Amino acid sequence: SAGAAVSGAILALDLGTTGIRALLFDPSGAVVAGAYRELPQIYPQPGWVEHDPQAIWQLTSEVVAEVQAQSAARIAAVGLTNQRETCLLWDAATGTPHGNAIVWQDRRTAALCQKLRAEGWQAPIQQRTGLVIDAYFSATKLAWLLAHRQPYYPGLKAGTIDSWIIWKLTGGRVHATDTSNASRTMLFNLHARDWDPELLELLAIPAEILPAIKPSLGVLAETDARVLGYSAPIAGVLGDQQAALFAHGCDRPGLVKCTYGTGSFLVAHTGDHPIRSHHQLLTTVAWSDRTSTGYALEGALFTTGASVQWLRDGLGIIETADGSEALAASVPDSGGVYFVPALSGLGAPHWDMGARGLLIGLTRGSGRGQIARAVLEAIAFQTREVTDALAADMGTPLTRLKVDGGAVRNNLLMQLQADVLGVPVERPQLIDTTAQGAAFAAGLGIGFWRDYAELVAARPLDRVFEAGERQLALQAHYAVWQRAVERSRAWVR
Ligand code: G3P
Repeated sequence: SAGAAVSGAILALDLGTTGIRALLFDPSGAVVAGAYRELPQIYPQPGWVEHDPQAIWQLTSEVVAEVQAQSAARIAAVGLTNQRETCLLWDAATGTPHGNAIVWQDRRTAALCQKLRAEGWQAPIQQRTGLVIDAYFSATKLAWLLAHRQPYYPGLKAGTIDSWIIWKLTGGRVHATDTSNASRTMLFNLHARDWDPELLELLAIPAEILPAIKPSLGVLAETDARVLGYSAPIAGVLGDQQAALFAHGCDRPGLVKCTYGTGSFLVAHTGDHPIRSHHQLLTTVAWSDRTSTGYALEGALFTTGASVQWLRDGLGIIETADGSEALAASVPDSGGVYFVPALSGLGAPHWDMGARGLLIGLTRGSGRGQIARAVLEAIAFQTREVTDALAADMGTPLTRLKVDGGAVRNNLLMQLQADVLGVPVERPQLIDTTAQGAAFAAGLGIGFWRDYAELVAARPLDRVFEAGERQLALQAHYAVWQRAVERSRAWVR
């Protein structure tokens, strides 16, 4: 046991991009109940991605009911973690959303972002928010919602998915977010640790529609008794990438994790003050408590797992995402085929909204196996680009990578990753690290667990992938792949 002080269980809610998960953790840190529902994706037009906020709440209620049916343990606290940047507007009086949420992947505000860049806002925005101007972040999405869907009126509320679900969990009593989610909006001033009045004015976003910013760790609100049948504290709220960082125990400089989901997100804790990236990484809040704030550098890659889904749904050359491993392993190498996963532009370190996917090096001998292998290699190469940027920003090389997320089940991908990076890649037994982070935060927040270091140390490892004999060959391929990246850039102008 990891120092359990009270009985019952901690409920972690993970409101991800592709699905909603609830996990119940017992005092030993083990998962005793779990439920998952896929979240429908809405594509109103090319480049647009939306979610129905009512569906997010409905599915959340369903997974909560399902874990309560699986386990009679009393829920001592709720931890919340969520897809970041995705945002919406709703009405305070009725709790009804003004249409769908705009998802982080949505590119509809690319032109507005180009305009802001052309007007010289890049340097001031990076200095204040730590971010690169991109359609990815919430700010321009909120500006779009206010301009095209619902103009301001008193009683209008805005927020990211954490705020929306806190609102619903508290029966409409609390409008709040945490610092890690706030730091993804491009409206949060990292130094003042508050909404930036000048950026709000720039984008015509009234401050009164925004949530109050609270610490990530500690009791933030009490749930409405109707949700669980009794009320419980919401005692930890973190963006999903920050939650995974927390669960991996990356609480100081030198510790780095990468989560492989729809996209990949490499995050490194940098200590208690923001470090400005000179290599196009994002500076962001790791997490905060009442007295301190930790910061991180992040490389966000938009379409890694999504590229494997494209092999399945777009090309139809595999039946399931897991099938990519066997297909890629059916050939000894990619046979000179390279893939650039710029399917919705390129994120870190290029931030090129006009880049598009590229498959290059094809010959008459190239087949499905080579293409699948090129896609897996590309995922590993993209991680290498951001670890190189990170090493340059931090002045120290990467020595080890902690991984999680659905795609880490793919052993070939993990071996390629270790080879491309030349460092060990460490996979835990529980790969739902995001939900685990929310649970750890909430459990520590109410004293259900006492010792963070002990909790983290008690997590069983599954396997460590060491860089092997193919590392030199793959690192040479990496240099060739970077030439392919150059060719994919600024394709859509
Ligand atoms: O920044 C977007 C990220 O938070 C989404 O994560 O796991 O829902 O794809 P995920």
